[in-house]
Amino acid sequence: MTVREVITVGDERLREQARSIEKPTPEIARLIEDMIETMHVEGGVGLAASQIAELVRLILVAVPEDEELPGSGELYVVLNPEITKTSGDEITVGVEGCLSIPGYVGEVERHAWVVVQGLDRRGKRWRKKVQGFLARAFQHEIDHTNGILYIDRLISPDRFWKEEELEGEELLV
Ligand code: NI
Repeated sequence: MTVREVITVGDERLREQARSIEKPTPEIARLIEDMIETMHVEGGVGLAASQIAELVRLILVAVPEDEELPGSGELYVVLNPEITKTSGDEITVGVEGCLSIPGYVGEVERHAWVVVQGLDRRGKRWRKKVQGFLARAFQHEIDHTNGILYIDRLISPDRFWKEEELEGEELLV
């Protein structure tokens, strides 16, 4: 496992549409291991392959169940993730940060729940309804696969801060 460099805003690769993965290969398995290692070292609760300049549709989400205990939540690895159903008008506003936008956080509107489908790391079809912060994290990561960053979705340009201006720990995805 190798810790990979996380690319940051301004790098045009973050703005590209990532390619679909036909099937999991040993190469993809190694990429997943590198992403897990990188996410843990960087202290993120999610990571998209695009963030380490691998332009394939692959995301990790690992929101801790107990915020004090990193790694306490389930680790989701999803290939070709897509949102097939949303809560529609039922939206929530919350603060997000991103490993690719270091030092900043901003307020973003997201669907309260979504149904996500894709493939698991073995290539089996996978589908789950997620809500709350988990739903926020999935929407954020799936945006990365489409070249979208949370700063594109700020509820207002002035709801964007340097991390130290906000009290409390923010979760970075
Ligand atoms: Ni992000």
